[in-house]
Amino acid sequence: MNVTAILGAQWGDEGKGKIIDYFVHHQEHQQEMVIRGQGGSNAGHTLIRDDGKKIVLRLLPTGIVSTKALNIIGHGVVLDPVSFLKEVREIREHGFEVSSKNLLLSERVHLTFPWHRLYDQQNNFVGTTGNGIGPTYSAKALRENIRLGDFIHSPTIAFEKMERLKKNFLATYKGNFEQAQFEEMYLKYKESILTLINDYSDLIQEVHPIIQSYLKSNKNILLEGAQGTLLDLDMGTYPFVTSSTTTLAGLCIGSGIAPNQINKSIGVFKAYVTRVGDGPFPTEDLGEYGKMLQEKGKEFGSVTGRPRRCGHLDLVLLKHACELNGFNELVMTKFDILSHFSQMKICDRYNEASSLFALNRLTPHYKTFNNPSENLNEIITFIEDFLQTKISLLSCGPKRDDLVKISRKREELKKSAH
Ligand code: IMP
Repeated sequence: MNVTAILGAQWGDEGKGKIIDYFVHHQEHQQEMVIRGQGGSNAGHTLIRDDGKKIVLRLLPTGIVSTKALNIIGHGVVLDPVSFLKEVREIREHGFEVSSKNLLLSERVHLTFPWHRLYDQQNNFVGTTGNGIGPTYSAKALRENIRLGDFIHSPTIAFEKMERLKKNFLATYKGNFEQAQFEEMYLKYKESILTLINDYSDLIQEVHPIIQSYLKSNKNILLEGAQGTLLDLDMGTYPFVTSSTTTLAGLCIGSGIAPNQINKSIGVFKAYVTRVGDGPFPTEDLGEYGKMLQEKGKEFGSVTGRPRRCGHLDLVLLKHACELNGFNELVMTKFDILSHFSQMKICDRYNEASSLFALNRLTPHYKTFNNPSENLNEIITFIEDFLQTKISLLSCGPKRDDLVKISRKREELKKSAH
């Protein structure tokens, strides 16, 4: 068994795409299977190729840019056929193959329908990406949704059900949107479903036995997290969260791999913190420092283009993420951005004695480090001691190989009181 999970330790956008890309390609780690287990096209994994070209993956697992890996969209993912086909077209334009040799879709994935998107966009009180993610997961939990495999195994019933769900939606929400536009969306959607089941039927499978055979033959499997730990539906900053389980447990559920088969859990965190959408963010910096982080770090959403809120590294929340995901090691990204600053502030506790439930009422206490780039070792040691977790890689540039392996021998992480 050789299963590694890579997850975001903050509010998403930690730079997971690049780190996953590195693991997929790197000889030592070369992955034979890459599985997405949760979320949908709300994710945006940015990869910068050797020739400087930028690729943003939303639904497709990062292994799609590797010639070796078999990529799986696991049953925990929610899939919008229109977005999926668009992304497949785009990735082919970049010169990558997409066929049943390198991509399989679980027939159990739940579909995002046009009404999920519309509902999401019109009831957006948490600043969602507007991709219909929450409404799709809600319909799944209500047991009223349609899965991809339903259109393969019993298409007549599935198409009838789709018409019925559309009528129900129109009956309830008519008047809230432009109906002609909705009908157009619906038509395009129906065409996409037909394309999927006619032209891509060989990709749509019960993937469980295939995953099991990879596990049994000890192949390298990578579980690719989407979003970030603090956006977790249960343990994140509810209700300002996404609608899936973004921790390691969610990847187990969404891929069908049992928890005791995971060998390694790697957390990716940024040297500062960003967040898109609303919700509490204790270390947010609304002043010049935050503005400069946004500018120097190019902190704009890869899916929505929205500016990201920026602030200082928060070790209390990072510790929470380490616990929830059982991280064996960590990767720190974008430390290079801090070279533009004369100081780095790190939150090492909150001033109030309250639980993280009331995060919006907590104010940070900071430890300040001068000239961060000159004091990297001291900063890393401080973070590792606080988290009792080793930082194994440091990412300091957008390209896949802009990485520094941290192989300093440390006897033991200094036991701290945190
Ligand atoms: P939803 O996932 O579109 O429902 O959005 C819920 C919240 O999660 C919003 O605050 C989004 O900005 C945030 N979110 C969803 N996906 C991502 C992501 O991939 N990166 C960062 N934030 C995300």
